[in-house]
Amino acid sequence: MSDVRFDDVLKRTWEALSSCEPLMQSCDAITIIRDLQGRITVYLECTNRSSLGDTLLETVREILMSRLDVYFSGDLWVSDPRDDVFASLEDVIHSERIPLQWALRHEDHEASGGSQPEFYVLERRVAKEYWNERVDSESTLPWPVCDVDARKRPAVVTFYSFKGGLGRTTSLAGVSLVLARLGFHVAMIDLDLEAPGLATLFFKDTGSQTGVVDYLIEKPLHQDDYTVRENVLTVADPVLVAGGNPIRLLPAGSVNQNYLEKLARLDFQHQTSTQIQQTLKRLLIEISDTYRSLDFIFLDSRAGFHDLGGLAVTRMSHAVVMLGNHSRQTWAGLTSVIDTLSGHGVREPVPVVLVHAMAPGPTHPNASVEQRLFRETAYDVFQKHYYADQGDISVPNENDPDAPFHPVVIPWHEILRGDIHLSHVSDDERRRTEALVRVLTGEPYDDLARRLALLFGRDFPAGGGGKDHVG
Ligand SMILES: Nc1ncnc2c1ncn2[C@@H]1O[C@H](COP(=O)(O)OP(=O)(O)OP(=O)(O)O)[C@@H](O)[C@H]1O
Ligand SMILES: [Mg+2]
Repeated sequence: MSDVRFDDVLKRTWEALSSCEPLMQSCDAITIIRDLQGRITVYLECTNRSSLGDTLLETVREILMSRLDVYFSGDLWVSDPRDDVFASLEDVIHSERIPLQWALRHEDHEASGGSQPEFYVLERRVAKEYWNERVDSESTLPWPVCDVDARKRPAVVTFYSFKGGLGRTTSLAGVSLVLARLGFHVAMIDLDLEAPGLATLFFKDTGSQTGVVDYLIEKPLHQDDYTVRENVLTVADPVLVAGGNPIRLLPAGSVNQNYLEKLARLDFQHQTSTQIQQTLKRLLIEISDTYRSLDFIFLDSRAGFHDLGGLAVTRMSHAVVMLGNHSRQTWAGLTSVIDTLSGHGVREPVPVVLVHAMAPGPTHPNASVEQRLFRETAYDVFQKHYYADQGDISVPNENDPDAPFHPVVIPWHEILRGDIHLSHVSDDERRRTEALVRVLTGEPYDDLARRLALLFGRDFPAGGGGKDHVG
């Protein structure tokens, strides 16, 4: 039996790595990453990557294996600035790690600050494996995509952006309005539990409205005595849905002191079990069973590499709407997500509709240049990361307007700026809501709705959703 204990692992890792002189010569920084079980992966950064030959890496691996035994994961990662996935991983590592001497401050430890290379520790107490996992199985979906195609079940579509504030919630609302007005049945679910916003867009006062957080906490305890219906709001205002169908809305929950207590418990469950995954799946099935004719369930996921977002995007969705603007940060993050969604030839890639969000408006002098750059970057990233391992799946033509990499452009619009509301009491408010709805059912949102309908073989009338219900 191994005599290595959790408490000794960081120090042992440091000793083992420091004893390897050629490694010390080659690296600028070493990050010791410790996973949920306490096992170590080492992340090596060096300016001259070629100095880290395979033989040296093998030696380091052997040293770690002998010193850490069961506490070594077997993984050594070497940073590679040319690889976009590593670049975004590195952003996460850099933002979350701490110097090793801080981690060992309670121990008799001589790892001096300023030594070459710098040693860091990254504690992965929060599991981000949904985002990192390269292989996934279709069985995690709440129901198979063939049920969606056969119109037996709705398509679950997650709206995702790597950065916040790009209009994710607003686009989800706009697309839902377009589809509802056309006679589709839509449900919207706010999974942005840390910063919920969907319900307040549609309702002035949601009072003590319960929601996703309550379901995730209560359902495992109450089982069938707790139903999702208790949490669902209905958007049926004719100013919004015209003659179309009501939209179902499941808010995140009421934000009060209890909300934080519930959220904290969910965060912890994420680290310790798969219960949230199971309950979320159950939630989707229950919604689909309760509102039988649903065509779409839209999930508003949190931005960034958040766990619930990862769960929604990588395990629950039949398609992902991915919003980004043209910035390095967006592309670093989205590249990594696109890579995960590709399925790596092991399963079908998850369908994606890309959105160039907050694009400069048509009269802006940079509009066409920025749109072209976004489009070109998208094509390049999808080529490298979405289609790379796909074997016989051919890359659509670069000019195919419905290809995953061909973005729907949603321009910045003055009327949507600031804290917008769709609820109204006075005539003035109603006129303001009507003006907002005209924009939210206008061309970009209509185009996005059409792309989603197309993905799942739903008829989408030419002329789109700004019009009233067609059938
Ligand atoms: N096309 C647009 N043009 C201008 N402003 C917009 C547009 N779409 C949304 N907005 C505004 O930008 C802000 C952010 O939008 P929204 O809340 O939809 O973004 P988000 O990506 O969901 O943000 P968060 O990450 O905070 O949830 C809001 O004030 C919204 O009214
Ligand atoms: Mg939002």
